[in-house]
Amino acid sequence: MRILVLNGPNLNLLGQREPAQYGNTTLTQIHERMLALAEEFGNDLTFYQSNHEGDLIEQIQHAQENKIDFIIINPAAYTHTSIAMRDALLAVGIPFIEVHLSNIFQREPFRQHSYFSDIAQGVICGFGAHGYEMALIAAHHEFSQTNQ
Ligand code: DQA
Repeated sequence: MRILVLNGPNLNLLGQREPAQYGNTTLTQIHERMLALAEEFGNDLTFYQSNHEGDLIEQIQHAQENKIDFIIINPAAYTHTSIAMRDALLAVGIPFIEVHLSNIFQREPFRQHSYFSDIAQGVICGFGAHGYEMALIAAHHEFSQTNQ
């Protein structure tokens, strides 16, 4: 199973960015942990982070021709603004899990609406960097169930 792991703006700064909110783990460390788990599952992971909405949309569009089976995405601030990224995910029709390090429901009202949650397979938020590993486990189970 091929999984695309997409991260939106400012997540390249993880480790130094608001550690009280997002923890001390860097995005590279998150990717390393996911790779270790993916090896156990026999999954093929591709990582992409961008601070640009259009770049993220293009990655989503290319996911189809790249034969991606599943997407794990933290849209970061675009969670709360991007109808265009939502539309891209609807267009490709690839199942996805939405991840947030922080519990967005404990935060400012503007973070409590997501343009992705109602079309996601599931949402994981509030477990910090571990949320990405949880998403990988969930993606693996979801995919094995629908493709056996
Ligand atoms: C975030 C939550 C968003 O509200 C915020 O803009 C982010 C990170 C999270 O992972 O907790 O950049 O997606």
